[in-house]
Amino acid sequence: MSAPQPPRGTRDLLPPVSERFAELERTAASIFSSAGYRRVITPEFEATEIFARGLGEATDTVTKEMYTFTDRSGNSLTLRPEGTAPVMRAILSNRLYEGPLPVKLSYSAPMFRYERPQRGRFRQHFQLGIEAVGAEDPALDAEVIETGLRVLREANVGEVTLLLNSMGHPSEECRGRYLPALRAFLQQHRDELDSDCRRRMETNPLRVFDCKVPGDQRILAEAPTIDQFLCPECREHLDAVKTYLKDAGISFVPAPRLVRGFDYYTRTTFEYQSSALEAAQNALGGGGRYDGLVQQLGGPPLPGIGFGLGVDRILLAQEATGAAAGSARLDVYVVPLSRAERDLAVRLVREVRDAGMSADMPYADRALKGNLKNADRLGARFAALIGPAERDAGTVTLREMTSGEQETVPLDGVALRMGERLR
Ligand code: HAM
Repeated sequence: MSAPQPPRGTRDLLPPVSERFAELERTAASIFSSAGYRRVITPEFEATEIFARGLGEATDTVTKEMYTFTDRSGNSLTLRPEGTAPVMRAILSNRLYEGPLPVKLSYSAPMFRYERPQRGRFRQHFQLGIEAVGAEDPALDAEVIETGLRVLREANVGEVTLLLNSMGHPSEECRGRYLPALRAFLQQHRDELDSDCRRRMETNPLRVFDCKVPGDQRILAEAPTIDQFLCPECREHLDAVKTYLKDAGISFVPAPRLVRGFDYYTRTTFEYQSSALEAAQNALGGGGRYDGLVQQLGGPPLPGIGFGLGVDRILLAQEATGAAAGSARLDVYVVPLSRAERDLAVRLVREVRDAGMSADMPYADRALKGNLKNADRLGARFAALIGPAERDAGTVTLREMTSGEQETVPLDGVALRMGERLR
């Protein structure tokens, strides 16, 4: 019988990849908190309505990618496909907007989307994200964008391109002027577009930009873009964001076709693209403003902005750029040469750990050769050998694994000596 496998589109994250993940989480947590974002943990599932209303009924996510189920009480629930709508729901449920604004929250969580699995595209993926709710100051937009870039810089993912756009707002003077122009263009090319794209055109013309068909993309390259239709306030807002970014020394590429995949976006939208990944999955993260979302979910009119970084893709980019090397190692593997030294080994392992270093031992009777092989496979820097001679003398033979060099160290001085040599 073949070994059981994880569900299609999901995977086990094993060491050392899982350790790089944990390291990335720590880095992000410290960067987020340095900018005032505090951790929120929301349930893995929400009432389906939160996503249907929040993300937009015509989005790919809502129409075909949600893991939706009915629980035993007949409630329709959905595994979180993205982090923003649940965080807004939490802000409303807990009336966090009654405190100081903007409310600044961060998260690290799995997301679930029924997508076609491929490299960098999974049915369960992980995001690190932040959301800031209750301010429309363009300086906040720049702060959010810069915070994401800091995480990517620290993560060593190689070259990152920042794409920047403004989606305007839905009123008649802004996006409301753009949509008829886009619709007219699409109408002219209707017969050349595939059926999926035509469906998008009817429900929400902006969604045609999410279309994956290459032929459609060629036509869309000629379509009018939102930047030609922004109202003066939105243009001013975008210009201010750009100025703040320039002040921070952050370069960006204007991307007037960057509409992003959810209907909640207004004004600033952005994406971080990696040159180390293939074009179809090269977005390491993305985000933007969603000034109408809180209200859409039944709350007060609070503007907001945030991003989600794709952890799985960051891990892939680290591999592509060679930053994946240097996995966590074991400081010492303590090897009793016979059963009689096992208690000493147990004690030594504890002492080394108490001194803040990592230690492990075989927990089985095995020949020295096999134990040294294990020490090697575990990436141990040292092996501490305790045989009858060492036991009698109250010493340990400390062997550096790479060079094979050995020295005799008093049993109660092992932690100290290792500390010196590891420094
Ligand atoms: P998103 O662009 O859908 O935005 O996802 C954010 C990032 O998650 C993507 O750039 C990508 O790196 C990663 N990602 C998305 N789907 C997958 C997948 N199937 N497999 C692997 N990685 C994936 C959002 O989710 C928004 N909530 C971001 C946001 C926060 N906007 C405002 N605030």
